[in-house]
Amino acid sequence: MAEDGSVIKIVFTPSGRQGHVPAGTTVLQAARTLGVDIDSVCGGRALCGRCQVDVGTGEFAKHGISSGPGSLCGVTAVETRYADKKGLAEGRRLSCQSTLLADVVIDVPPESQVHNQLVRKAADDRQIEMDPIIRLCLVEVREPDMHEPSGDLRRLVEALQTQWPDRVTGEIDCDLHILQQLQPVLRAGKWQVTVALRDGNRIVGIWPGLKERVAGIAIDVGSTTMSAHLCDMVTGDVLASTGAMNPQIRFGEDLMSRVSYGIMNPGGHVEMTEAVIDGLQKLITGAAEQAGMDADDVVEIVLVGNPVMHHLLLGIDPVELGGAPFALAVDTAVEMRASEIGLQVNRGARVYVLPCIAGHVGADAAGVVLAEAPQKGEVNTLVVDVGTNAEIVVGNSKRMLAASSPTGPAFEGAQISSGQRAAPGAIERIRINPETLEPRFRVIGVERWSDEDGFDEAVKSTGITGICGSGIIEVLAEMYLAEILTADGVVNGAKAAISPRIEADGRTFAYRVSDNVVVTQNDVRAIQLAKAALHAGFRLLMDKMALKSVDRVVLAGAFGTHIDPKYAMVLGMIPDCALENVRAAGNSAGTGARMALLNKGARREIEAVVRDIEKIETAVEASFQDQFVKAMAIPHQSEPYEKLSQAVDLPVRELTPDEAPAIESGRRRGGRRRSR
Ligand code: FES
Repeated sequence: MAEDGSVIKIVFTPSGRQGHVPAGTTVLQAARTLGVDIDSVCGGRALCGRCQVDVGTGEFAKHGISSGPGSLCGVTAVETRYADKKGLAEGRRLSCQSTLLADVVIDVPPESQVHNQLVRKAADDRQIEMDPIIRLCLVEVREPDMHEPSGDLRRLVEALQTQWPDRVTGEIDCDLHILQQLQPVLRAGKWQVTVALRDGNRIVGIWPGLKERVAGIAIDVGSTTMSAHLCDMVTGDVLASTGAMNPQIRFGEDLMSRVSYGIMNPGGHVEMTEAVIDGLQKLITGAAEQAGMDADDVVEIVLVGNPVMHHLLLGIDPVELGGAPFALAVDTAVEMRASEIGLQVNRGARVYVLPCIAGHVGADAAGVVLAEAPQKGEVNTLVVDVGTNAEIVVGNSKRMLAASSPTGPAFEGAQISSGQRAAPGAIERIRINPETLEPRFRVIGVERWSDEDGFDEAVKSTGITGICGSGIIEVLAEMYLAEILTADGVVNGAKAAISPRIEADGRTFAYRVSDNVVVTQNDVRAIQLAKAALHAGFRLLMDKMALKSVDRVVLAGAFGTHIDPKYAMVLGMIPDCALENVRAAGNSAGTGARMALLNKGARREIEAVVRDIEKIETAVEASFQDQFVKAMAIPHQSEPYEKLSQAVDLPVRELTPDEAPAIESGRRRGGRRRSR
């Protein structure tokens, strides 16, 4: 053991950093000297409790240290006071108060680390490293002195520079509203104030005394729904998660109808901007309330959304996005004060909007890229988000390409005779018996399948009202697997001999699912056109990268959440890929937004990635049309879909001389294409 007054060896875990410091140094000072990551808001005043550590106990032979509680000074009165007031776990010490007496091993728990890795709550284990753009700093400011006249701001800045040298990154400036409240706040806090320092050089918030908690909010503004995560900007914890319908829906269900509303009605885009901002405000206020906070505590906002939402929430008329060449007003990240777009939160709050990738590949896709990080892997990843326009990103760490493809609204249930939005009463799952051609299905809002006891009773309250996007994809894929539908997408009238559900419909045939839900030949055509556009889009990008297949498919957005990847693949909406490597990313765009909220480096990262993504305009690509025609077939005219055929019994296809070689080779390599 070292003697008092001597030099002490200190080892920090888990970082492994170690060194020697004079006895009597506080653990926090030692950490700073050795570059160890320990958090603090109060600057070592025993107020915030962010600096807690554990003392290693026992013989640490590796380091030649015998460590224990006696290696530090006894628990101080200040620590006891803190423990009485706010609680301190058994054995925990405040590193700012405990001084070193002897060689010691100090463990810094994750919650005390500035760059704490937060495990995402969603299904995977992606981590967000805390490095927020906003840092809270408690400072003691010199009182004014007649003999040394200086403004309050000068003394506040001086206090920040001397008391938080590692947080200040440049010349400090402040907002006007800070100046307006500076003097009363300094005096109310008796010259002790907490400052919200943004990016190390701008004061955006100030409170008397210690302010321990401020919030940031990450919001994914979808055309139908908006979802938000309110996060503690000090710890990164999610304090509240909320969602709401996008109030713009009254101007049109899909994006293009909203763009049209703007074109047809002078000032229409202003109305839509007001509606979405009003919706955002309610969402933010609600999330803050849920967390027991005030909207005034929200100091940072990150937004993602498709290009039309992006433009509308910034008050930009999206008219140019309504037609070629689909020019974005801005293709870089945008930052502004929240008040500039009419959001009432903390007066110093800024809004950061992720960059849009291209005319129809939005900031939501950028959020997905940030969260799914295809740019970080060697494997080839396809990210696809299907809405009125499909947003498609293909790539790996070496090269990334993006495009959009005009799929139209068929996947969302529009243009489909029995189609409807995903709402109670809509058929969302369906299976067809290949022998009898009888369907069984599930309806949103009812737990049972239609052939289970109690279904009729359970469905009474909503009725069967139509079929939603995921239901349409399943019914078509099942019709194909049951050979009601040919590979060319023709409803096979010959099957009427097997089941009365195949009905004549003029010169074509239709398949009746229930009394009021029928799949017509026109419905099939609408989906074929949409899926062919989608397939041609990703095939174009894959061809440019000379890829025959991809290793991983990420289905983003609502489409990805509800769709069964197997059926999407049967229809050729995604390329052939091992089914276990197809992932619904759920709210990946929102996760990307949260990453940008909690880690300022993530902002620079996505800005750089988006800058480097090659944007492909499908409309001007000569091969698009050719690809489109080939992609009309189910799953595709010439792609063998070998991996899919190992998982699903695909019907035997009659081959044209053109496609025979490819398909035959697919069969030889393990496909089980045979008649069901
Ligand atoms: S640094 Fe705030 S309590 Fe120790």
